[in-house]
Amino acid sequence: MKREWHEVTVARRVAWSADLISVVFDADIGPFRAGQFIDVALEPGGAGTSRSYSLASAPEQPPELFVSLVAGGELTPRLFSAPVGASVWLRWPAAGVFTLERLPDARHLWLLATGTGLAPYLSMLRTEQPWQRFERIVVAHGVRSAQGLAYRDELSAHAARHPGRLSVVPVVSRDPGAAGVLHGRITTAWDSGELEARAGLAMRVEDAQVMLCGNPRMVDEMRLRLEAAGYSRNSPRSPGQFTYEAYW
Ligand SMILES: Cc1cc2nc3c(=O)[nH]c(=O)nc-3n(C[C@H](O)[C@H](O)[C@H](O)COP(=O)(O)OP(=O)(O)OC[C@H]3O[C@@H](n4cnc5c(N)ncnc54)[C@H](O)[C@@H]3O)c2cc1C
Ligand SMILES: NC(=O)c1ccc[n+]([C@@H]2O[C@H](COP(=O)([O-])OP(=O)(O)OC[C@H]3O[C@@H](n4cnc5c(N)ncnc54)[C@H](OP(=O)(O)O)[C@@H]3O)[C@@H](O)[C@H]2O)c1
Repeated sequence: MKREWHEVTVARRVAWSADLISVVFDADIGPFRAGQFIDVALEPGGAGTSRSYSLASAPEQPPELFVSLVAGGELTPRLFSAPVGASVWLRWPAAGVFTLERLPDARHLWLLATGTGLAPYLSMLRTEQPWQRFERIVVAHGVRSAQGLAYRDELSAHAARHPGRLSVVPVVSRDPGAAGVLHGRITTAWDSGELEARAGLAMRVEDAQVMLCGNPRMVDEMRLRLEAAGYSRNSPRSPGQFTYEAYW
């Protein structure tokens, strides 16, 4: 089906902090796979600036996006100002290959995100697929301050529903007072072994599928580490152990 622009309205808006929101739209965007993205524009018919956003919602749910404010950015300051009831243009069907369908089977699924890179994992965890395919799942969420740790209750609820199968590892880089988290970056927590210790699971090339999403520098730095440890990138012709999506 051709990807086309549709006018929709903002149905709900959650402000996690001054620069972090979730937005739900009153729209039926048709079938998609968890991990895919849609495009957003604020001008009629999708004219002008448009940007891509991962769906945090599961297929069948109203589309939900998790968005951070980029100061001076072209789209996000205006999206942040759009109140409930405002018109927004979305382009669907959703697109993208950052999906579980593209991953070979493995025992353990490692979902590493910075910032709003958590969005595709929220969508995946809201479906049955990861729970049916993987014995254990680890979500590591790297943010600047504890305020950025959105969706913690939802992640805890998944963990409670699947006892012993989901480990959530919050990693906070600029908030020394944050309690109950690892301090630093996902990369440094991986280097020190703290990430695995906190997850209660060893990451081993023979057991793991690893997804990386968010800040392109995190993606690059984790990619280099994984390659040095013997992991290779998944592609349709050559199955490997990691897959990534960089947001900018
Ligand atoms: C497949 C895909 C999925 C995406 N999903 C999401 C999502 O779920 N949530 C989300 O918030 N963003 C997501 N993004 C990023 C999003 O498309 C925009 O790039 C972002 O919202 C900034 O848009 P802007 O027009 O406000 O800023 P721009 O005017 O495009 O940005 C100005 C500059 O800011 C930098 N920049 C862009 N994005 C960020 C960022 N998030 N943090 C820091 N610096 C940045 C870049 O260097 C850019 O040149 C995704 C991108 C892609 C490619
Ligand atoms: N979240 C906020 O508190 C805040 C406040 C004001 C403005 N903003 C704006 O919002 C946008 C997104 O900010 P964000 O904080 O969500 O995303 P971000 O800048 O990508 O930071 C998210 C996490 O990724 C980490 N990170 C950065 N580079 C990394 C690397 N090479 N390897 C591993 N981890 C790395 C950051 O650590 P470091 O902290 O060490 O970089 C931080 O813990 C930006 O435009 C930002 O200016 C955010």
